[in-house]
Amino acid sequence: MTNFLIQCSFNRILHRVLDLLEFMCGIIGYVGKASAAPILLEGLRRLEYRGYDSSGMAVMDAGNVLATRKKSGRIANLKALIAENPVSGSCGISHTRWATHGEATDANAHPHLDASGRLALVHNGVIENYQTIKRRLLEEGHVFLSQTDSEVLAHLIGRVYDAITGADPRRRLVAAVREALKQVSGTYGIAVMHADAPGFIVGARLGSPLIVGLGKGENFLASDVSAIVSHTTNAVYLQDRDLVYLTEDEFTVENVDGDESAYEVSKIDFTPEQAEIGDFPHFMLKEIFEQPTSIQNAFRGRLNDDHASAVLGGLGLTPRELRDVERIVLCGCGTASHAAMVGEYMIEHLARIPTEVEIASEFRYRNPPLDKNTLVFVISQSGETIDTLSALREGQRKGHRVLGVVNSVGSTIARESDGGSYLHSGPEIGVAATKSFTSQVTVLALLALLLGRMRHLSIDDGQRLLREIRELPGKVERILEQSDYIREIALKYIDAPGMLFLGRQFNYPTALEGALKMKEISYIFASGHAAAELKHGVIALVSPEVPSVFIMPKDAVYEKNVSTVEEVKARRGPVIAVTTQGHTDLERIADDVIYIPEVHECLSPILSVIPLQLLSYHFAVARGCDVDKPRNLAKSVTVE
Ligand code: AGP
Repeated sequence: MTNFLIQCSFNRILHRVLDLLEFMCGIIGYVGKASAAPILLEGLRRLEYRGYDSSGMAVMDAGNVLATRKKSGRIANLKALIAENPVSGSCGISHTRWATHGEATDANAHPHLDASGRLALVHNGVIENYQTIKRRLLEEGHVFLSQTDSEVLAHLIGRVYDAITGADPRRRLVAAVREALKQVSGTYGIAVMHADAPGFIVGARLGSPLIVGLGKGENFLASDVSAIVSHTTNAVYLQDRDLVYLTEDEFTVENVDGDESAYEVSKIDFTPEQAEIGDFPHFMLKEIFEQPTSIQNAFRGRLNDDHASAVLGGLGLTPRELRDVERIVLCGCGTASHAAMVGEYMIEHLARIPTEVEIASEFRYRNPPLDKNTLVFVISQSGETIDTLSALREGQRKGHRVLGVVNSVGSTIARESDGGSYLHSGPEIGVAATKSFTSQVTVLALLALLLGRMRHLSIDDGQRLLREIRELPGKVERILEQSDYIREIALKYIDAPGMLFLGRQFNYPTALEGALKMKEISYIFASGHAAAELKHGVIALVSPEVPSVFIMPKDAVYEKNVSTVEEVKARRGPVIAVTTQGHTDLERIADDVIYIPEVHECLSPILSVIPLQLLSYHFAVARGCDVDKPRNLAKSVTVE
């Protein structure tokens, strides 16, 4: 009994600690001539996919009064609060929070104030030594209104600020932020304002993204360009340990040691419309239907008909260096790791180079033996996933070239990689990755083609692949036309307590991806398996209530899959089959059949995943789930 009590108290402490740390949140700051509140609210709305437990803002008016409004729940709650109790001023910072455990409360929402109530801070990240700092501040009489680590950082900066005398308030605030950040360990992306320094915002980053948006007579600070793209397309992506301060007319980038820090102004590579939901009910559906275009963008300008090969100039490797590659490691998390698995099968099939996938969080600790001719790739839609970033840094520490397959231009992974290829998918707002998966697989197919044509792949095989890659967008269009039919199938199984996804060879990773889509937006248990594994235990889960989804295009293992379908049917398990059009024999045994166009077996996951995306989308919507903001998740996991 004693042990049980100890365990319970430990769990309670653990939940309280985890409840207090700020994970993947959204930040936007504005300084200019316009009213800040509407701009901040609009930015928060665009950032809501990053976190949506609570939100708030601090705005400074002409009288240098710092007004704060914050509210638990969705951005709409904050908007209503501000409508009742408006704030005025043309300089402000704001935040949308994503907590991991426990209820989000108004008190834990950002911004947090310092002891004087004249300094406001918003924070994305984890201050790991906040308890030690808090104890010291409590001894000095500080009173905390929340239990968060972020409020402790606000108090620490305020304490340092108050201890600096004489200097201009702006210089004092910069010095206070710099000094306080030297005392903390962990990660941060912060924006700070002080009532003594109107029209002035200080920002800093370590491990959490922060971007400066450069406008005309106005400037922005944001954790993600989607928050500011409707105001400017000129952005400065801050690096770790950068510190920035900005007014409406200028900005300065230094590092936390006070030295000038080099920066470059980048163009945001998508339009405001691309970051808008348009006529779709959800971003996820919009992005599923964008795939004909996003796949096209992934291979546009990268097909070389003369050589029956691909062109990936961003890799920064000479043909000789590419020919010397003896082993490839592909790292990623979640959907990106599933795309990596397809990449493994494609590279080994087309280029005969030993390739393996490492879950990024494992790679960085597993310390696998890699030799000098091993090429490491990191795959990430957001380019900010901390596990993948850490794998990149670990690979580089061991002297390997680490190349990125990334969607977000200017993201940390993109900037720290030794080269790579962008997906050019446009912003992926829906938390469930869809178009990024098919674009990642497309880019990896190009890589496999390039490497294969430098080795044993014939020109005929290369030309066939080029032809098939070009045909992908049209084939995806044809699958998307079945959305209503797939919705009917989803409704048929709406009460299923769980779902199995089964595939072989190139479509084993597709099965994993289909299961992830289903579980992360509908919250039912779903698992993906290599189909032959069914008889090694998984089949115990087969029952009339649990449908099995088979991804089984007409390929070399099709007949094997048919046998496995029979095994499920023999146990009265419902079967949904995704197969190649024209093979109607499956209608004899499967309960539902979704057809996809004929395609090269290497490329089949790009087509076979579409029905799974639609199935999970319609299933989750029918169950009343918020497919764009599924519970407990966030779009970019920027903490370990
Ligand atoms: C996939 O639907 C999830 N959103 C999640 O698994 C995601 O793929 C993973 O967190 C990796 O994200 P990244 O591609 O941005 O690095």
